[in-house]
Amino acid sequence: MSSDFIVFGSPIIGPEEIEAVTETLRTCWLGTGPRTKEFEAKIAEYTGAQYTIAVSSCTAALHLSLAAHGIGPGDEVITTPMTFAATANSVVHTGATPVFVDCERDSLNIDPKGIEAAVTPKTKAILPVHFAGRAVAMDEILAVAKAHDLVVIEDAAHALETRYKGRRIGETGGSTSCLSFYVTKNITTAEGGMVLTNDEALARKARVLSLHGLSADAWSRYSDGAPRHYEVVVPGYKYNLTDIASSIGLVQLRKAEEWLLRRDEIWARYDAGFAGLPLMTPAPVEPDTRHARHLYTVLVTDDAPVDRDGFRNGLHELGIGTGIHYAPLHRHPYYRDRFGYTDEQFPNASFIGSRTFSLPFSPKLTDAEVDRIIAAVRKVAGA
Ligand SMILES: Cc1ncc(COP(=O)(O)O)c(C=O)c1O
Repeated sequence: MSSDFIVFGSPIIGPEEIEAVTETLRTCWLGTGPRTKEFEAKIAEYTGAQYTIAVSSCTAALHLSLAAHGIGPGDEVITTPMTFAATANSVVHTGATPVFVDCERDSLNIDPKGIEAAVTPKTKAILPVHFAGRAVAMDEILAVAKAHDLVVIEDAAHALETRYKGRRIGETGGSTSCLSFYVTKNITTAEGGMVLTNDEALARKARVLSLHGLSADAWSRYSDGAPRHYEVVVPGYKYNLTDIASSIGLVQLRKAEEWLLRRDEIWARYDAGFAGLPLMTPAPVEPDTRHARHLYTVLVTDDAPVDRDGFRNGLHELGIGTGIHYAPLHRHPYYRDRFGYTDEQFPNASFIGSRTFSLPFSPKLTDAEVDRIIAAVRKVAGA
């Protein structure tokens, strides 16, 4: 790869992160311990959640949330096809069935108006995704959930900084919100995630399930407190986060707000730079919400000189990497073949899936790089 190629998703790792990891390595406490406890506390402070359980990924956080609610074979979970595989895969892992409801064409979030019609006697949960960090219509979703006695589990992989009507992502009203700290996310721990909840009993269950179903974690078993026995109370999972990872997260979290401001600037520069092109730029942010600005996705309109793949190839030749968020899940062989889903059932997700691509969107980008990206997009668009 040439040195001036702008890759799609690259984290910011500076001397502070390197120092934090080195320090953790020197302590020889590498697994789940004091750094992870501190990271949980800081995320609780930042998101407003009362209880936080650090885990190895958002996929684990989603699975754990579903499992802690006892969701399993014979149950249905309503979610969106306009998401990453992990959202629906986590439902399949419990033995339950993911039931897709189409997304809105503008917000790219699940259409709350479609949810009610998808509820059956088997429905146990609604699993909305705050797409790209845009808050889903939580109040409408919570109303449907209340009417049918369903739990709401929020896929907040993109939404650490999201706010909805003054509520932070740990206060939006779902039973849990699940964060991701994957490499390309707004903050990273290399791999990692977090379950946020305000339900004490659920938090206790999720924590026990996150570590083999043991009644005491390693920190309380092996640190310098009095020796403790443990018992296996349920066959849990191995989903804990390491202190090495948490030490990166602690540094990154301190920079989250500053990085969001930089992404706000890049967003505005992109919006202005793409005006008049045969591209649909992201819809304006809904009033009384804060967008976490995780992805900048565009739709190639039918009057463009090239289609979506042509755009991506053209940009690649000009040294710009792109991504796709998303090829909707109902089109993937597993979901299409197992559940018989068709494009006609999800006209909006299908429309978007054929036309969308995402541009590099990191606070690491310099103004000169952003301008280079804009110029390249304008060139491919024939402007
Ligand atoms: C919407 C969404 N949900 C879930 C996940 C899974 O996150 P993780 O990689 O931390 O398991 C991702 C990751 O890309 C995602 O984008």
